[in-house]
Amino acid sequence: MTDQVRATYDAVAEDYARIVTGLDAEGPLDRAMLADFADRVDGPVADVGCGTGRLTDFLAGRGIDVVGVDLSPGMIDVARRSYPALRLEVGSMTALDLPDGRLSGVLAWYSIIHTPPEGLPVVVAELRRVLAPGGHLLLGFQAGADQHRTLTHAYGHEVQCDAWLHDPDTVSGLLADAGFVVDARLVREPAGGERRPQASLLATRA
Ligand SMILES: C[S@@+](CC[C@H](N)C(=O)[O-])C[C@H]1O[C@@H](n2cnc3c(N)ncnc32)[C@H](O)[C@@H]1O
Repeated sequence: MTDQVRATYDAVAEDYARIVTGLDAEGPLDRAMLADFADRVDGPVADVGCGTGRLTDFLAGRGIDVVGVDLSPGMIDVARRSYPALRLEVGSMTALDLPDGRLSGVLAWYSIIHTPPEGLPVVVAELRRVLAPGGHLLLGFQAGADQHRTLTHAYGHEVQCDAWLHDPDTVSGLLADAGFVVDARLVREPAGGERRPQASLLATRA
């Protein structure tokens, strides 16, 4: 599974960076969630599944001490080239190279979309582990009833990669079970070229 995700994003990295730039890809509601997250954090932050670093750069531009982590060396290469001043590392959100309770915030923007529903508790536990009590988590993902998809085309490339639409109620429940308080839930209809509803959840580690 992780090999498939890594290979897919290694293949699309250059074109992803060309097509999905800065905050331009986000509509006003998603930008509001990202801005609110940036306002809440008051210490170090990890952007997990940072991809080409576009949101790592957004957070750094808000004066936030941020590290970007991604499974795909290809995405990290592109990110380092685009944002040489940022801290960007290859790694997995299931085993972050960060100490317990270190972070004020974790952003996981569309990076849990390749995690099957049964894998989410491990991810949520790892993100909770690295957050300090009172730390904030923002998750973005395509919303659905735990539906599986196989991606065969992405950003102009033929790929083979599993992806899931996650149920916002289920993800909220997992967060609560793991000791988070869910502060805000956004579920919105598709906009622009999107084909599916989109969700974002903002939560605080109790
Ligand atoms: C759709 S892209 C989103 C990238 C970035 N967050 C953005 O909004 O542009 C998904 C990213 O999540 C990364 N990813 C998926 N599973 C991961 C994991 N277990 N650990 C770290 N990164 C992961 C992929 O390599 C890919 O770069």
